[in-house]
Amino acid sequence: MCGIIGVTGSGDALPVLMEGLSRLEYRGYDSAGVALAAGTQLWTRKRAGKLAELVAAVGDAPARTSCGIGHTRWATHGRPDDRNAHPHADCSGALALVHNGIIENYLPLSDELAGAGHHFASDTDSEVLAHLIEARMAEGDGLADAVRHCLKAVKGAFAIAVVHSSEPDLIVAARRVSPLIVGAAEGVGLVASDIPALLGHISECFALEDDQIAEVRPGSMVVTDLDGNEVTPSRLKVDWDLEAAEKGGYEDFMLKEIHEQPKALTDTLLGRLQPDGTLRLDEVRLDDDELRDVDKVFVVGCGTSYYAGLAARYAIEHWTRLPVEIDIASEFRYRDPVVDSRTLVIGVSQSGETIDTLQAMREAKRWGAKVLVICNVVDSSMAREADAVLYTRAGPEIGVAATKTHVSQLVMLQLLALHLARLRGTMYPDEVRTMVRVLHELPAKVEEALGRDGHVSEVALACHQVRDFFYIGRHVGYPVALEGALKLKEIAYIRAEGYPAGELKHGPIALIEPGTVVVGIATGGHLLDKVLSNVSEVRARGATVVLVVDDGDESTAALADHVLWVPQTHELFSPVVDVVPLQLLAYFLAKARGNDVDKPRNLAKTVTVE
Ligand code: AGP
Repeated sequence: MCGIIGVTGSGDALPVLMEGLSRLEYRGYDSAGVALAAGTQLWTRKRAGKLAELVAAVGDAPARTSCGIGHTRWATHGRPDDRNAHPHADCSGALALVHNGIIENYLPLSDELAGAGHHFASDTDSEVLAHLIEARMAEGDGLADAVRHCLKAVKGAFAIAVVHSSEPDLIVAARRVSPLIVGAAEGVGLVASDIPALLGHISECFALEDDQIAEVRPGSMVVTDLDGNEVTPSRLKVDWDLEAAEKGGYEDFMLKEIHEQPKALTDTLLGRLQPDGTLRLDEVRLDDDELRDVDKVFVVGCGTSYYAGLAARYAIEHWTRLPVEIDIASEFRYRDPVVDSRTLVIGVSQSGETIDTLQAMREAKRWGAKVLVICNVVDSSMAREADAVLYTRAGPEIGVAATKTHVSQLVMLQLLALHLARLRGTMYPDEVRTMVRVLHELPAKVEEALGRDGHVSEVALACHQVRDFFYIGRHVGYPVALEGALKLKEIAYIRAEGYPAGELKHGPIALIEPGTVVVGIATGGHLLDKVLSNVSEVRARGATVVLVVDDGDESTAALADHVLWVPQTHELFSPVVDVVPLQLLAYFLAKARGNDVDKPRNLAKTVTVE
C-alpha cells in the first residue's frame, strides 16, 4: 500500500523524508521517491525496488533544503519501475505530486489534457493530477486553489501532497477516501499517510476528512473544504509506539487486514463501472470476441485462492451458462485436463508467485488455453506471463493467513462472471446492473459483520478448549466452510474439517461426539432447509452447534448453541460476508491459545517450492 510523507521548515528535509519512508516500508512497496523544493526547479529522485536503491540515488541532493515530499508506491496502474514511481511532475517540472489511491476517471481526463498539449511521462493514474493542477495554475490560480479545482474534476480515492517551486515552503495536501494526517509545530509542518511516519516529530496532529485541503507551512497550517471555507479537522493524539502504529493500533497485522476488508472491496470495485452501468475490466488484454468464443472455464489456485474459485463457480455457471471446473493448481498441471484454445483458464493468486499456480498457468498456455490471472501484486510473474490480468486492489497482505485478498478475489471473479455473461448475452444489461448494485453494497455489509467482533470473541472463548471442529455448508456455503476450517487450522492449530453438509452422513458423521464443534453456514440460501436438517443430525449426536445466520432469522438461530449473525445479502455474494465471522472466530481462538497469528508455524506467505 502506498505511503506519503512530507515536511516543510525542517533544517534539512531529506533525512526526515528518508526516515519517514523507512517507517512506511512495513506497508509493502515496490518503488520509492522524493522531491525537494530547491530554488526555481524541484529536485526529484525515484527508484524501483527497495529503499536502499533510493538511498544510493540521493547522494547528490542539494544540501539543507527545508521542504519536500516522499512516497513509497504499491503499483495499481502501471508497472513498478522508475518512471511510474512517485513523485510525478507536471510538464514544466515546477510541480511534484505524490498520490495514494485510484483516480477512476484518469483516462478521459488524460485524453483531454494530452489533447491540450500535456506530455505524460508515466502509465499511472496519478500523473493526471499533476497536469490538471498545472493547467489550472496556468490560468492564474495559486497552488491551493488549483488543487481545489482539480479535485472537483476527479472521481475515485486519493490522498495527495503537492509542492511547487513558486512557493517553496508550502505543501498542499488533500484527501478523499484514502487517509492523510497533517500537523504543524515549532517551525515545522508535516504531512503523512500514516502515523508511523510522523512519530518522534510531532505529538499532536490532525486527520483530514474527505474533500478537505490543507496548506501546510513551517509552524502553521490552514484547512479548507472544496469551496475554500476554513474547517477544523479532527485532532489525533499520537501516543502509540512504532510497532502499534504500524499495525494501525490493532494487535496484529491479521486483525488489521480483517478490518481492512471493506476498503479492499471498495478499491477492487472502484472504477470498474462505466457511466452507463456496464463493466470496465480494462486490464483484460483478451478482446471481447476471444472471450465470447470461450466454451469452458477452469479456475485454478491453491489454498484460500482455490477456495475463492470454488465459491465463485456458482455465480460463473449461473450467469454465463459455461461449464466451470475448479482445480487445485498442483493437481491440474499433472492431470492432463481437457483444455484447448476455447478454454479460459483463470489463475487466482494473492502473490502471483505461488509456484504451483504459476506452473499450472504455464502448462495451460502450452496447451493453447487463454490464460487470465487474478492477483494482488502488480507485475508479479503470473501477471507478466498471462494473456490478461485483473488486479485485486487489497493492498499488501502481511499476515500469512489470507483474509482481505480472499474477499477481493471473490468480488473480482464475480465481476468477471458478469462481464462474460454480458458478452455472451446470458444476462440482460438490467440484470447485470442490478447485480453490480448489490456488489457495491458488500463493503458496508462486511463492515457491519466486523462490528460484531465482540460477540465472535465470546463464542471463541466458549469453544477454545475443543480439539475437533467441523465446518459444514451447502452450495456457496460449502467453500465458505472450507475456508473457515483452513483459517482455524492455519492459525489456531486446531483440527478442522470443511465438508459439504449433505455428505456428512456418508462417513464423517461417525466422528461427531458430544462436544465436537460443528460450525454451519446457515444463511438464507435456497438450500437452507437442507442445511438445517444436517445440523439437526449433528445436534442429535451431541455436537455443539455454531451457526452463521442472517440477521433476524430467529427460527434458524434457535437451532444453535451459538449464533454468528451476519447482514443478509444475495445468495451468490453471501460468501463475501459469511466468511468474515469465521476469520474472526479463527483469530480469537488462535489468540486464546497464545499463537502468533501473523506468522503461524510451518507456513510461508508465498510458497515458491513445489
Ligand atoms: C491462506 O491463508 C494461505 N496462506 C494459503 O493457503 C494461500 O492462500 C496459498 O498458499 C496460495 O497463495 P497465493 O494466493 O499467493 O497463490
